[in-house]
Amino acid sequence: MNFAELVLKNRTYRRFDESFRIGDQTLKELVNLARLSASGANRQPLKFLLYTKPEDCSRIFPSTIWAAYLKEWQGPESGERPSAYIIILGDTSITDQFGVDHGIAAQSIMLGATNQGLGGCMIASIRKEDLRKELAIPQLYEILLVLALGKPVEKVVIDDIKNDDIKYWRDKDRVHHVPKRSLDELILKL
Ligand SMILES: Cc1cc2nc3c(=O)[nH]c(=O)nc-3n(C[C@H](O)[C@H](O)[C@H](O)COP(=O)(O)O)c2cc1C
Repeated sequence: MNFAELVLKNRTYRRFDESFRIGDQTLKELVNLARLSASGANRQPLKFLLYTKPEDCSRIFPSTIWAAYLKEWQGPESGERPSAYIIILGDTSITDQFGVDHGIAAQSIMLGATNQGLGGCMIASIRKEDLRKELAIPQLYEILLVLALGKPVEKVVIDDIKNDDIKYWRDKDRVHHVPKRSLDELILKL
């Protein structure tokens, strides 16, 4: 897989083979990719919590909110839920301005996961106070992103955008469609 193919394959996946477990070492390798990534003023204020055990995954899942555009879908069912999570925290003893560091870290982790045949979903819609309580996350750390990871079982395709409709949708075969704006629309000529 060349780099463009990796980026294309690195879609958001929301249904997984939950019986496929991910090892702690895999998550450590993925966080190492985040460690090597860019950081504003090189402050490196991010911290990471890693979870792979089924019982931990069950504690995290209720605090995550999935696919707001798929109104009739409440998120992955049991058997198709993530088998690991990386929670990205901001360490407020270093700074209270995390800028775009967590986005950069998340993308490095997701590209690394895709490269290993895994996939996942960056989740910013988090029931943060529930999650903080459930995992006993100290107030010192701001909860920035949850990365849900697993072995994807869904097909995701990119479509050209129609009628300016950016909402992703699922067809009758449960193929997930993601409309993307054209390159011509993105590149401005002033
Ligand atoms: C910062 C960020 C936050 C996101 N939060 C959520 C979320 O809370 N729940 C969810 O199901 N998807 C979430 N997503 C996934 C987006 O919906 C997804 O990236 C978008 O539909 C485009 O699909 P693609 O990643 O395959 O290109 C998030 C993505 C990003 C970048």
